[in-house]
Amino acid sequence: MNYKFFMKTIFYVGVLALFAVGCGQTPQSKTATLRDALKDKFYIGTALSVSQFSGIDTLSERVAKENFSAIVPENCMKSMFLQPKEGEFFFDEADKYVAWGEANNMWITGHCLVWHSQAPDWLFVDENGNNVSPEILTERLKNHITTVVSRYKGRIKGWDVVNEAILDDGSWRNSKLYEILGEEFIPLAFQFAHEADPDVELYYNDYSMALPAKCATVVELVKKLKERGLRIDAVGMQGHIGMDYPTLEAFENSLLSLASTGVKVMITELDLTVLPSPNPNMGAAVETNFDYQKELNPYAEGLPDSVSQAWDSRMGEFFALFLKHSDKITRVTLWGVCDKDSWRNDWPVPGRTDYALLFDRQGNPKPVVQTIINKTKE
Ligand code: G3I
Repeated sequence: MNYKFFMKTIFYVGVLALFAVGCGQTPQSKTATLRDALKDKFYIGTALSVSQFSGIDTLSERVAKENFSAIVPENCMKSMFLQPKEGEFFFDEADKYVAWGEANNMWITGHCLVWHSQAPDWLFVDENGNNVSPEILTERLKNHITTVVSRYKGRIKGWDVVNEAILDDGSWRNSKLYEILGEEFIPLAFQFAHEADPDVELYYNDYSMALPAKCATVVELVKKLKERGLRIDAVGMQGHIGMDYPTLEAFENSLLSLASTGVKVMITELDLTVLPSPNPNMGAAVETNFDYQKELNPYAEGLPDSVSQAWDSRMGEFFALFLKHSDKITRVTLWGVCDKDSWRNDWPVPGRTDYALLFDRQGNPKPVVQTIINKTKE
């Protein structure tokens, strides 16, 4: 190669590289984010706490804006916050959440209309503390659901209507809701939500859905709702998983069973804990807690490379499964933005250091994020 030709080649390569940078396409495609890469597959969501949409936690806010296409409120739309006293609604935070979602072009989900946990005490009892009648509870549920769903009509695109009504063995949870209304509280909730906003998507949401007995009852529930002509668009498999539970196979079997009823599946609360559990395979039964012990918090100073690689690899396998079934899955939502935000740091043992999410404590993507982006091109 003569010198002139060599210099000319260098010049043109340089011009081309500058052009690519100018167009925002660096050779490593640095601009590809999860949000962009997954846009033809499913929404990729995150749960937001109040501080993240109120200008307080600007680190996680930035990560959420840049990487996610869907949001769900971690706590502020639960009934104990929205209606702390009968007839007295508090919408300040929920309003901010919805406005933030609109300003950032997110698919906005509401969470959750009916749940035995984080419900205000007054909901189930009379002034003497006795259970109210089925008629009164029905009226209270109708009023709560109608008021909340109507307020965000056309803005919130989907609601977790009922959360966690089935136990891990497939039996019904003996909550106040069930005690007073039996199974009927579920169809009623779906009916009231649909009447308040006929266009909004409606979901049933639960944890440990890879357990066959639990999944079988949810499948029956979906069929019963459909037989009665009620709207249900999707089932949420929460996805609070660990390093050794559930198996991918069990998760996939449940996903397929749920999808076979004709509804879509959503992974609604994904996180992967690396910490030892005092009681294996616990899903997310928030009522079960254990005291802090140092030996239950082994990675307070950081995660060894081997554990971090194992975490990455397992999270990557789950995303490969989600991509394989992207025709059945409409949304995959992480339960939090960065590791520091995860409820896993405080459950089932308070005050631990977990590494459960896709972004680390400084807001950097973990290696699996690039793996997921690459997998979308396969
Ligand atoms: O509101 C009080 C506040 O007044 C007080 O100062 C503070 C002190 O700890 O506590 C606040 O309440 C906390 C609440 O979140 C709101 O921040 C509770 O202690 C805490 O236990 C509660 O945890 C939430 C949990 O639901 C409650 O059941 C988690 O943040 C939230 O991630 C978790 O989310 C649930 C889903 O909704 C349903 N599926 C399971 C999932 C994980 O448990």
